[in-house]
Amino acid sequence: MSESLIISTVSKKEKYEELLPQIESLIDSEDDLIAKMAIVAAALRQTFNFFWAGFYRVKGKELVLSPFQGDIACLRIGFAKGVCGTAWKERKTIIVPNVDEFPGHIACSNLSKSEIVIPVFCGDKIIAVLDIDSDSLNSFDETDRRYLEKIVSLI
Ligand code: SME
Repeated sequence: MSESLIISTVSKKEKYEELLPQIESLIDSEDDLIAKMAIVAAALRQTFNFFWAGFYRVKGKELVLSPFQGDIACLRIGFAKGVCGTAWKERKTIIVPNVDEFPGHIACSNLSKSEIVIPVFCGDKIIAVLDIDSDSLNSFDETDRRYLEKIVSLI
């Protein structure tokens, strides 16, 4: 059996289970938020080959582009705008199976087809969001939500 065939049989859950302790040990002794975001974005992209994975930090009334992996993206997103601004406003993870059906979706790339956005909490306050885009429809589900919420809680 070729290596790629073996890899393809590993479930999403198994990949997250393997990734979680790796991320934990990578950022364990680091206190710099940007460095931690950078390593998380890279680890997610490397593991799942996501089309785009990165953070937007809350700055005043906007989200500002922060460490990411993927194509160039919009620099700032307003409160309640797009999927990211909506996740910030609603203080919860948003899964978008088809970005064309999300009113107000901000298209940084027309190759992006589905998306998940997870708020990053510091206590009760949202300090950032993690945004992941896929170039396929329906890429994200409850497994992604559960593990990605755990991952952002580590930073
Ligand atoms: N699609 C996002 C914008 C950010 S990019 O996808 C990287 C949104 O609607 O908020």
